[in-house]
Amino acid sequence: MSATGSQKRLTPTRIAAMKGGKPIVSLTAYTTPMARLLDEHCDLLLVGDSLGMVLYGMETTIGVTLDMMIAHGKAVMRGVAHACVAVDMPFGSYQESKEAAFRNAVRIMQETGCDAVKLEGGEEMAETIAFLTKRGIPVLGHIGLMPQLVHTSGGYRSVGHSEHETSKIRRDAHAIGGSGAFAVVIEGTVEPLAREVTSAMHIPTIGIGASSACDGQILVSDDMLGLFNDFTPRFVKRYDELGKKVADAAAAYADEVRSRKFPAAEHTFKRRS
Ligand code: KIV
Repeated sequence: MSATGSQKRLTPTRIAAMKGGKPIVSLTAYTTPMARLLDEHCDLLLVGDSLGMVLYGMETTIGVTLDMMIAHGKAVMRGVAHACVAVDMPFGSYQESKEAAFRNAVRIMQETGCDAVKLEGGEEMAETIAFLTKRGIPVLGHIGLMPQLVHTSGGYRSVGHSEHETSKIRRDAHAIGGSGAFAVVIEGTVEPLAREVTSAMHIPTIGIGASSACDGQILVSDDMLGLFNDFTPRFVKRYDELGKKVADAAAAYADEVRSRKFPAAEHTFKRRS
């Protein structure tokens, strides 16, 4: 990636400057062809560790490795010309110490050429985020429902219902706001709290299941395209049913092969005379 090339794309600083303005449009991307299709429509593309579930059939994101994230980060970077790209730090790659987080974030940035990393965690991770951002690594935070904590947080469910959860998320937002993160994803959080946190924070909030009050929205592309059908959370809107279209196309192909309708004359090489 040349210096000029990276300047043409949106930067974390420009995403941060969108606070309170036009909503930030964000989707996940894991591959080059998908990044090419989504790029011009999005401000921010996230190479999310949701790829473990969506592409690899895992039950949670816990099994996703740094090497997987780097391979998919590289693939996405080959397909972008416009959007800012953040790559998720997978479970186990940043929690042990801020030094380990720095080393692994450097690998992601150097090997993929992406613009930023994302990591899950509120007040517990604020010191790590400050360590990274002070050393030149832009960080996108992630609070509210945190899928990497599925085994200790009681599963995939919306948060901010109890006084206890509400005050924890307030503290998380305050800590991330002061950590140097350029923006923060808020996942699965009840509307009044997402609204309150958005107006209290000076950095953009990007909601997923956190209401229209956020400064931007993100969805898992495969969810909104109807390509991932194992489980559809309530906050997902399906903009198409591509999974059904793929299955219908495969059935039509199978019929035509079995009935010898495909390949037809136009798909067949004739000897040049
Ligand atoms: O991994 C992911 O795709 C994410 C988004 C759902 C925000 O973290």
